[in-house]
Amino acid sequence: MIPGDQEAVRDLFESVAPRYDLLNDLLSLGGHRLWKRQAVAWLNPRPGQRLLDLCCGTGDGALLLAQKVRPGGQVLGLDAAAAPLQRARQRAAQEPWLPLQFAQGDALATGLTDGWADGALMAYGLRNLVDPARGLAELRRVLRVGGRAAVLDFNRPDPEGGPSQVRAAQFQHFYLNSVVVPVASLVDLKQQYAYLETSLARFPTAQQQIELARQAGFAEVGYRPLAAGLMGFLTLVA
Ligand SMILES: C[S@@+](CC[C@H](N)C(=O)[O-])C[C@H]1O[C@@H](n2cnc3c(N)ncnc32)[C@H](O)[C@@H]1O
Repeated sequence: MIPGDQEAVRDLFESVAPRYDLLNDLLSLGGHRLWKRQAVAWLNPRPGQRLLDLCCGTGDGALLLAQKVRPGGQVLGLDAAAAPLQRARQRAAQEPWLPLQFAQGDALATGLTDGWADGALMAYGLRNLVDPARGLAELRRVLRVGGRAAVLDFNRPDPEGGPSQVRAAQFQHFYLNSVVVPVASLVDLKQQYAYLETSLARFPTAQQQIELARQAGFAEVGYRPLAAGLMGFLTLVA
């Protein structure tokens, strides 16, 4: 599949949705839950806040955020694909007291007003956007001044970054090809998970993401590596 093809990316996540949560748990040995919690902890969500989970998928991040904004707050989860959203709504229905809504939409053009959100999470979304720079610009636009955003994803090793980065790239290649794809093949999702490495190959490095975030107008920009540098998240203040 071709990265940068928005419809193809949406179709991919439509087809993956029924197995997405199970595979996430299996392939990261539960680590994705910890990394999402670390990104949410940095966001420091508080009661009364209006928060956004962009590219929310099956709702992991939105559910975490919604537990923190009560009373008086609100969380909106936005995703381009219908099937993950259906699963997210089913999960939210099990905790009907949470102030949580989901909507189908485009992270590149959310339709929200300027400064709508007090804070935002984007977990494993930026890499899937046709234009990450536009995604960061839209993220900046929908945040109020001073609002925080955490953008969590795989950390793409910097090819110019020396031996440790070369080793990280080799490990990622091994893990994606020798663990992720074979496991996904067992549930007929080989093609879909082979896309992970393709998408990573065109993903900006941490340093490039920092630069893009500055260009998008964020006042403060940082990067926190996770899992020995295999994952990481951008820390952004609008
Ligand atoms: C890897 S999943 C991440 C889901 C969830 N955030 C998580 O961490 O489990 C990426 C999600 O991004 C969504 N996505 C891709 N392009 C998008 C876009 N332009 N606008 C909104 N969502 C998009 C996909 O439909 C998919 O659900």
